[in-house]
Amino acid sequence: KGLHKLALQAGLKYFGSATDSPGQRERAGKEDAYPQYDYIMWKSGEFGQTTPTNGQKWLFTEPSRGVFNFTEGEIVATKARKAGYYLRCHALVWHSQLAPWVESRNWTKAELRKVIVDHVTRVAGHWRGRCYAWDVVNEALNEDGTYRQSIFYQVLGEEYIKLAFKTAAKADPHAKLYYNDYNLEWPSAKTEGAKRIVKMLRKEGIRIDGVGLQAHLVAENHPTLDQHIDAIKGFADLGVEVALTELDVRLTVPATAENLAQQKEAYKNVVGACVQVKGCIGVTIWDFYDPFSWVPDYFPSEGAPLLWFANFTKHPAYDGVVEALTNK
Ligand code: G3I
Repeated sequence: KGLHKLALQAGLKYFGSATDSPGQRERAGKEDAYPQYDYIMWKSGEFGQTTPTNGQKWLFTEPSRGVFNFTEGEIVATKARKAGYYLRCHALVWHSQLAPWVESRNWTKAELRKVIVDHVTRVAGHWRGRCYAWDVVNEALNEDGTYRQSIFYQVLGEEYIKLAFKTAAKADPHAKLYYNDYNLEWPSAKTEGAKRIVKMLRKEGIRIDGVGLQAHLVAENHPTLDQHIDAIKGFADLGVEVALTELDVRLTVPATAENLAQQKEAYKNVVGACVQVKGCIGVTIWDFYDPFSWVPDYFPSEGAPLLWFANFTKHPAYDGVVEALTNK
């Protein structure tokens, strides 16, 4: 019983949930929910993998230049080790939740190269041997498949991607190295952009092992099973593994029977595609408990994107995931 066990039976490596450190969750104002939350997260058998939602990001790990702090990231990483869960580590080089000092200077190329190398070396080095995978570069692409104008791209062009992967490979030879982005779950110009990144790295002999499809989906307007299969196959055909890394399916609140049914179908399609395509190795939902989701902060009229409601009953989508994992 439990989603993780069903995932193993379906041939996946894991079914997991991201989680935040208690310090960061307090803002949700649900302190009284923690015992029930912690039971489902760590003891229920539902999950066999986790990702720290925030604590390994640049803002937390290198808040000032050369000052490293692993406290937030360790909270979740330590719990994962005790529970025997796979740990996906997230995220080394990303334009968002970046420490302000990185963006507030006019770096020369040489300076910014050193900033990236130092960060990746220290952070990936700290968790060396403990991460099943690292999201080495996160969200480098625009929707049209061109590169996002981050500070990294503005100064170094696509060289920053090569540098990040090269450095991560040295710092943690055990971790699978992933490129991770959203809206890669159906074929588009953006999926072509992500394939271009894989090919570019491979051509230069730089290790990349996987592509993470974040899968932040929308209940009322979700892709079909076949669209997901096409997109996942497109990556798997390049010889990299694929994972659903941040799955959630937001809906317009309040939830209705209708959009909960659409949400169920959306979860079923995307998890089902992962099960059906060899090369898709695991699924991570971006937390499991609605009150701890990022969605309402960013989309005020949307919410309830996860598998457990605020009162800890399960969404109909939970059954959609079970159906996908059991081929029903
Ligand atoms: O830590 C501060 C806290 O001190 C302060 O009191 C509080 C006030 O709101 O904010 C806290 O920071 C928040 C942080 O999460 C940690 O909890 C930020 O406001 C909030 O914006 C931040 O949101 C995170 C978001 O990434 C930032 O872009 C979400 O929790 C996290 O779920 C989300 O995750 C991203 C993935 O990393 C990448 N893909 C997209 C995904 C969803 O946006």
